[in-house]
Amino acid sequence: MQTIAFEKFGAAPELTELPIPEPGPGEVLVRVRAASVNGFDLGVLGGALQGVYEYEFPVVLGKDYAGEVAAVGTGVESVSVGRRVFGVVMRPTLGQGGYAEYLAVPEQYGLAVIPEGLDDARAAALALSGTAALGAIEAVAPGSGDIVLISGATGGVGAFAIQLAVARGATVLATARPGAEAAFVTGLGASVAIDHTDLAAQVRAVAPAGVDAVVHLAGDGAALTELLVPDGRLASTVHFTPADPAVRATVVMADPARGRLEYLADEVVSGRLRVPLGRAYELSEVPQALTDFTEGTIGKFTVTV
Ligand SMILES: NC(=O)c1ccc[n+]([C@@H]2O[C@H](COP(=O)([O-])OP(=O)(O)OC[C@H]3O[C@@H](n4cnc5c(N)ncnc54)[C@H](OP(=O)(O)O)[C@@H]3O)[C@@H](O)[C@H]2O)c1
Repeated sequence: MQTIAFEKFGAAPELTELPIPEPGPGEVLVRVRAASVNGFDLGVLGGALQGVYEYEFPVVLGKDYAGEVAAVGTGVESVSVGRRVFGVVMRPTLGQGGYAEYLAVPEQYGLAVIPEGLDDARAAALALSGTAALGAIEAVAPGSGDIVLISGATGGVGAFAIQLAVARGATVLATARPGAEAAFVTGLGASVAIDHTDLAAQVRAVAPAGVDAVVHLAGDGAALTELLVPDGRLASTVHFTPADPAVRATVVMADPARGRLEYLADEVVSGRLRVPLGRAYELSEVPQALTDFTEGTIGKFTVTV
């Protein structure tokens, strides 16, 4: 099968022929049809996850996937061959990934059935970013009238976080450069676009007393913390914890439990949540997609497999 893999630390990712994996007990073999580009790919590639995960080279990149079940291992009961599924690759080691024609994933975690009305590209784009955004919004629990500042709002996680916060009645301030980025975040429901190069002044102009919550997806966590009201809430997907113990802070790890993936998928199908798609790439173009991703994105980049 064709994959995008890298052979060792420092090696470039490239189109690599590998054997189709066998699904082990409790595993589902997926014929992947789509995947999406995430910052996680760059972390894996750069070796930043050494010590967190074991790397089994060649390592196939790609943290989320959508496709159909090609085979099941012993003990798998919830899905059968041909069923359309999507999710996040939650294997214990780094080796298999979504940038491959086939992928074996655990049945019990990181996999859900794709509902009618959701295409493969949107399902893949939703999986990691959507569950990370959901975790961040649940952590800061915005209510009606709360002001929520989302830093890193133009990225994949941010695009979902904006919509989930607005749906809970919050007023969202979203970091974005003037122009296309600002139009992108306001199009998703943000009330005000904030240029992060002038963060404090622009936030104070609309929220002089501070913001009730910060969703920290990028930028300087300490500077963002200073914009909170006393005992405000902060959720960070980038492992930031504020020094001020009064801040109710949560470090968020995406939790792609089946019910959470199903919830997000249903929100999309019902029209309450949009999956903003950016550029689409073929599998062989993933190295270019990763380069483009580092240069800025509007909408999720997807890969057709
Ligand atoms: N803990 C978890 O489970 C988990 C899960 C998913 C993601 N994450 C992490 O969460 C972060 C966001 O993920 P993502 O997929 O949305 O990444 P992304 O697509 O790269 O989005 C990050 C966004 O932040 C913007 N940005 C860069 N510097 C900024 C600054 N100083 N202030 C405000 N915005 C800034 C970037 O804009 P430009 O394009 O203009 O630079 C980009 O649009 C990443 O670090 C990712 O690794 C963690």
